[in-house]
Amino acid sequence: ERNPVGKLLLFGATGDLAKRMLLPSLYGLHADGLLPEGLTITGSARGDLTDEQFREATHKALDEFLPADRKDEAALSTFLDRLFFQPVDLSDASTYQALADKIGDVSGGLAIYLSTAPSLFEPAVKGLQSVGLAGETVRIALEKPLGYDLESSREINDTVSAVFPEDRIFRIDHYLGKETVQNILALRFGNSMFEPVWNARGIDNVQITIAETVGLEDRAGYYEGAGALRDMVANHMLQLVALIAMEPPALYDGTAIRDEKAKVFRSLRRIAPEEVQQLTVTGQYEEGAVGGKVVKGYDEELGYDSDVETFVAIKAHVDNWRWQGVPFYLRTGKRMAKRRSEIAIQFKPVPHSMFSGRGGLLQPNTLIIRLQPEEYIQLLVMTKEPGLDRDGLKLREVPLNLSLDAQFAGKRRRIAYERLLLDLIEGDQTLFVRRDEVEAQWKWIDAIRAGWAANQTKPKHYAAGTWGPAGAIALTERDNVTWQDD
Ligand code: BG6
Repeated sequence: ERNPVGKLLLFGATGDLAKRMLLPSLYGLHADGLLPEGLTITGSARGDLTDEQFREATHKALDEFLPADRKDEAALSTFLDRLFFQPVDLSDASTYQALADKIGDVSGGLAIYLSTAPSLFEPAVKGLQSVGLAGETVRIALEKPLGYDLESSREINDTVSAVFPEDRIFRIDHYLGKETVQNILALRFGNSMFEPVWNARGIDNVQITIAETVGLEDRAGYYEGAGALRDMVANHMLQLVALIAMEPPALYDGTAIRDEKAKVFRSLRRIAPEEVQQLTVTGQYEEGAVGGKVVKGYDEELGYDSDVETFVAIKAHVDNWRWQGVPFYLRTGKRMAKRRSEIAIQFKPVPHSMFSGRGGLLQPNTLIIRLQPEEYIQLLVMTKEPGLDRDGLKLREVPLNLSLDAQFAGKRRRIAYERLLLDLIEGDQTLFVRRDEVEAQWKWIDAIRAGWAANQTKPKHYAAGTWGPAGAIALTERDNVTWQDD
C-alpha cells in the first residue's frame, strides 16, 4: 500500500553521495513523472546556500553526473523548481527551528534522508524531534555506515528508535536497490526448476565476488575506520548471502522477506578465533597496474602505514538444514583485476559419469548471476562438441546465456538509489534493512574481527590489479574448489 509523502528533506545535500547518486536519482524519477506532484525537496547541509545557489549547484552536479541522453532542459527546469535549501549544523541544536520553519506543515508527510556521518544521527533525531519534525507523518532513512560494530549499531538503533518507530525507519543498503539483486528473487521464486536442487543435496558451494578496480577514492577518513570486512561484507555481501540462502517467503512484502533474511543472518556459523586463520584471508593492495594504468599502493595513497584490509575472503557456513556442509566463499576487494560482482552457484557433480576416460572431465553445472558491470544469468552446461567422435564423445562446458542487458535493451537501467528513494517516498520498507538484520550481521562480523585481533592478523600484500593475495586461492583450493573465472 503506497503512502506517498509531500516533502523530502535531504541532509548532506551538498555531499558526494547527493551529487553523484541522490540528486541524479531524484531527477530521474521526476523526469519519468514518478515523483508525487508537488513534492518539494529541501536540501540541507552546513554551507550557507540560498535556494537559488542550491539549485545552481544541483544543476552543475546533474550536468556532470547525468548521462547525456537523460538531460532534458524542460524536465531539469521543473525539477530545480522543486528544490529548496536550509543551512543546518546538525550538532547545533539551535539551528533546527529555522529548518522547521522552512519545511512548514508536515501533515502531508515528510521523508527525511540522513546522508551524514553516523555520529550525527543522535543530534539529528533529537534536533528533529525538538522542533516537531519527527511526528507520525515523518519517516527517516539512514545511510550507511550503520555503526562500526554491534555495540555502536545498537547505540544508533536505540537513539533513532527512541524517536522513530521501526516502521518509519528506512535503513539503506544500496545493493538491495540493484535490479539484478532483486532478480535473485525472481529467479529463485518465479521458477520451479531451481528450488528443488537449491540446497545441500544439489549445491556443492556458493561463491560471491564483489571486486572493484577503484582504490581509496579520497575516503581515508571513513575507510581507515572500516576496511573491506565492514565496508562491504557486513552489509552488501551478507545481503546477497541472505537472498541466495533464505527460505521462500510466502509474500513479497517487507515483513515476510526480512523475516527470512534475518533467519539466515542468525544462522551464520560464528567463526571462532582458532578458526579465523583457516577461514578468512585479508589483503592490502600495493602498487600495481589496473586497466593498464600504474596505481599507487594503499599505504602510499594514505601517506602512512596502515593495517586496514582492502581485501577479504571468507569461507562461511549457513547452519541450517538446507545448507548443511555447503561452503559460501565470499571475497571482495579494492584495486582488483576487474570490476565484477557475481554470484556463482556450483552444483554437485553427476553421481556417475558414463563418459569417463573418453570425453574428458565433466564440469559440474554452475549458475552464474552477474550483477556488475554486465547483467546476465548463465547456466554452464556440458554439451557435445560437433564431430564424428570416433575417439569418444568430446564434451565441453558452454553457457546457456541470458543477457539481461540484451533482453531488456529498451529498458533504462536505473541507479539503485532511484528505486530506494521512490520506495522511501512511497513508504515501502521491503528493500530496507530491519534492525534485527543489522544486528545479526554485526554479531557475525564482530566475531571475525575479534579473531583477527586475538591472532594479530595483518593483511597480506597483493599487487593492485590482481585477484588478491595467494591465500584467497588456497582458501578454496584446499576444498578442491576453484574460484569461478571470467
Ligand atoms: C559502498 C562502499 O557501500 O559500496 C564503497 O562504501 C564501494 O567502498 C561501493 O565502492 C560499491 O558500490 P557499487 O554499487 O559500485 O558496487
